[in-house]
Amino acid sequence: MLALTELTVSHFRSHLRAELHLDGRPVAIHGNNGAGKTNILEAVSLFSPGRGLRRARAAGMARRPENLGWKLKGVLQTPDQSYEIETWSEEGAARQVRIDNKASNQIALGQICRVVWLVAGDGPLVG
Ligand SMILES: Nc1ncnc2c1ncn2[C@@H]1O[C@H](COP(=O)(O)OP(=O)(O)OP(=O)(O)O)[C@@H](O)[C@H]1O
Ligand SMILES: [Mg+2]
Repeated sequence: MLALTELTVSHFRSHLRAELHLDGRPVAIHGNNGAGKTNILEAVSLFSPGRGLRRARAAGMARRPENLGWKLKGVLQTPDQSYEIETWSEEGAARQVRIDNKASNQIALGQICRVVWLVAGDGPLVG
């Protein structure tokens, strides 16, 4: 099993800073329309390679109006090991990846966390 047990979201979409401390059990996120639920799922989706569940450009995910770039940190637990993952984008640049405090890349991320996201286009499933 694969679990994201710590998540810190900084300057990402509507979230200035959000911290989630999880224990590997399933998670349900609830809140009003526009509260930032899908933004959190999008952040989670960036712990695997690619452009995330909205297929957005890195620059578009920076919190407005600051547009300073964004950063996500998380701990990914696999059955064998736990990894500290950081991924961020600086002011419009492509996103970068660090794994266990070492410069890394999305290929390495894909070796830890491969996820297929099944989402509907613009419908309520994605919100
Ligand atoms: N780059 C950004 N900077 C600041 N705010 C943003 C950015 N991108 C999206 N938002 C804001 O995030 C909010 C939408 O968040 P999100 O899609 O996560 O909501 P939700 O909780 O999933 O809502 P729903 O229940 O309607 O699906 C909107 O208010 C939108 O303006
Ligand atoms: Mg939503």
